[in-house]
Amino acid sequence: MKKMPVWLTLVIVVIACNNNPSSDTGKKDDTKFAGIPDRKWWKEAIVYQLYPRSFKDSDGDGIGDLRGIISKLDYLQSLGIDAVWLNPIYSSPNDDNGYDVSDYRDIMKDFGTMEDFDALLKGLHERNIKIVMDLVVNHSSDEHEWFKQSRSARNNPYRNYYHWWNAEKGKPPYRYSLFDINHDAWMYDSLTNAYYLHYFSRKQPDLNWENPQVRKEVYDIMKFWADKGIDGFRLDAFQFVSKDTTYPAFPKGFEKNFILYYAMGKNLHGYLQEMNREVFSKYNMMSVAEGAGNTFEDAHNLVDAGRKELDMAYAFEGVDIGNPKGYDFLRFKEVYSRWDSAFAEKGWLSVFLANHDQARMVSRFGNDGPAYRDVSSKMLNTFVLTMRGTPYCYYGDELAMTNIGFDKIEDYRDVPTLNEYQYQKKTGGNMQEFMEKIKNSCRDNGRTPFQWDTTAHAGFTSGTPWIRVNPNYTSLNAAAQEKDPESVLNYFRKLVKLRKENPVLVYGKYTLLDKSNPKVYAYTRELNGEKWMLLLNFSKDAIDYNFHEYKTINKSLVLSNYADAPEVAGPSVKLRPYQAVIYKML
Ligand code: NOJ
Repeated sequence: MKKMPVWLTLVIVVIACNNNPSSDTGKKDDTKFAGIPDRKWWKEAIVYQLYPRSFKDSDGDGIGDLRGIISKLDYLQSLGIDAVWLNPIYSSPNDDNGYDVSDYRDIMKDFGTMEDFDALLKGLHERNIKIVMDLVVNHSSDEHEWFKQSRSARNNPYRNYYHWWNAEKGKPPYRYSLFDINHDAWMYDSLTNAYYLHYFSRKQPDLNWENPQVRKEVYDIMKFWADKGIDGFRLDAFQFVSKDTTYPAFPKGFEKNFILYYAMGKNLHGYLQEMNREVFSKYNMMSVAEGAGNTFEDAHNLVDAGRKELDMAYAFEGVDIGNPKGYDFLRFKEVYSRWDSAFAEKGWLSVFLANHDQARMVSRFGNDGPAYRDVSSKMLNTFVLTMRGTPYCYYGDELAMTNIGFDKIEDYRDVPTLNEYQYQKKTGGNMQEFMEKIKNSCRDNGRTPFQWDTTAHAGFTSGTPWIRVNPNYTSLNAAAQEKDPESVLNYFRKLVKLRKENPVLVYGKYTLLDKSNPKVYAYTRELNGEKWMLLLNFSKDAIDYNFHEYKTINKSLVLSNYADAPEVAGPSVKLRPYQAVIYKML
C-alpha cells in the first residue's frame, strides 16, 4: 500500500480477511444480530441453488443424483451456506428435467429413492443446512395419474383437474405456449375430442386451480414434504395458476408481453392465502414464488407479512437485463436500486444473478475470458452477497463456471430450445441467427455438470454425462480452487462468512451512490450507526474512483477481490479491472 498523505485522513486497514477457507464456515454471531426487529431465518439465509441433475452422479448413469449430493455434503457445508434449493426431484418422465411431475410423493428414478432423500435431508440438517424444495403445481406431467384419468373420458371424476375445451365449440381462443413446437398452448386430444391447455410443453398440462379438489391435493402434497421436515418451497410458475376460464380473446401479439395476461389472475391471492392457512402457517417454512407479477404493488401483495401469503419476492427485472452482447449497466443499477427502495419499508426480496433458466452469471454480467473470468466472477459474487435481500447463489458460480456455448443442435437438451429450433426451421427462420442466439442464451449453458476436478468428465460421473461437460474443467474446477487461497471458491467462502457475521449486510439500509457512473456500482449499507461502502468496478478498465463525499471519512478495507489492497491516491482509489472493494466507515 502507498503511504497516505496526512491531510487526507484516510486510513486503510485490512481487517476480516481470513485466508483459511474452511477454518470457520461463518457461524452467525447472534449477539451482533440481537435487537434487530423482524428477524427471520430466511432473511438471514444464504441460499445455494443446486441443480441435482448436474451436481454429482453416484452410479455412473451420467445423471446427477441424491447419493451424489450426499457424497458432497461436506463441500456444501464448507461453503457456509444456510439452505439448499433443490430443483425438482419428484418422479418425472423428464420432458422438462423434472418440471413435469408424474408423482409428487415419489423420487425420480434417475435421482434415487425416498430412502436416499431421507438420508440427504438428515445429512443437510446435521450440518445446519436447510432444504427448500421446488413445487411444480401450475402443471403436472401428462403421465401423472390425474391426467391419465382426466383425458380418459369427459365424465371422469378427474376431468376437471385440468383445463379442457370441447372441440364442438370450435377452436379455443389462442393461448401462447412458451415451450410448444407451434407456440400453441391448446393441444387437441382425439380421445375425447377436446383441447387441453398447456402454457409450457404438451407434456405439461396446466392444473385447474379453480377446482378446490386440486388445491386440496396440492396442500396434502405440501404437508407430506413438510412433515418430513423440509424447510421451504419455491413455487414454480405460480403466478400463472389463476386463469380466466371463460378464455376471453387476448389482443393480437399479446405473447410478446404474455406475463401481463397470464400472471396475477384474480384468484391468485385467494389461493395463496388458503395455502398459507392450510400449510405455511403450520410449519416453520420459507416460501418464495417464481416471478413477482408486473408491478411493485403485485410484488408487495404477494409477500407483505400482514397479507399472510408468501415470504419473499423473486423478481426478474434485474436478471433479465443480462445480455451476451453487453447490457445497459446504468439500467442495471437503476433496477436493483428501484427494487430495493420499493422494499425498504416492508416486504423482502431475493437477490440473484443466475438460476437454472439463465446462461451463466459470469458470461452474462462479467467477463468470461481467461484474463478476467475469476476476478469478475468474484466481483459479481460480491454484489449478490452484499445486497439487501436473501442471496440465491447458483451452483458453480462459486467457481466462476462459464457458458459452454454449443454450436450443434445435437448438443442441446433443453426442451423449449429444441422445439423452437423446429419452429424456426418450419417457419423459415434465420437458422444462423437462431444458433448464435441460443449459443449465448440457452439455459443449457447454466446446466452443465459441476466441475469437481481434472479427472474424466470433471469428476461428475464415471459414465457418459447427460449433457456435455464444459471443456474448461481441466483448469476450472473445485479441486484446484480448494488449494488456491486466492481462488474464486475461497473468496466466495469469505464473502459468505462476512455476510453471516455482519447484520449490516443483511438488514442494513442500501443507498446507491454516484448513480450515473457508467462503470462503477457504488453503494452503502447502514445499520445501527454502522456504515459500509461497496465499490464494484463492472468494467475491464482501471478507474481512478473518487470517493466523493466520503473522501475525508476514515475507512477500513474489509475485503477486496485482488490479493493486495487497492491503491489510494489523493481523493481516489485506483480500482483495477472488475475490482470489488468493501470498506467499513470508521
Ligand atoms: C419455470 C422453471 O424455472 C423452468 O425451469 C421450467 O421449465 C418452467 N417453469 C416450467 O415448469
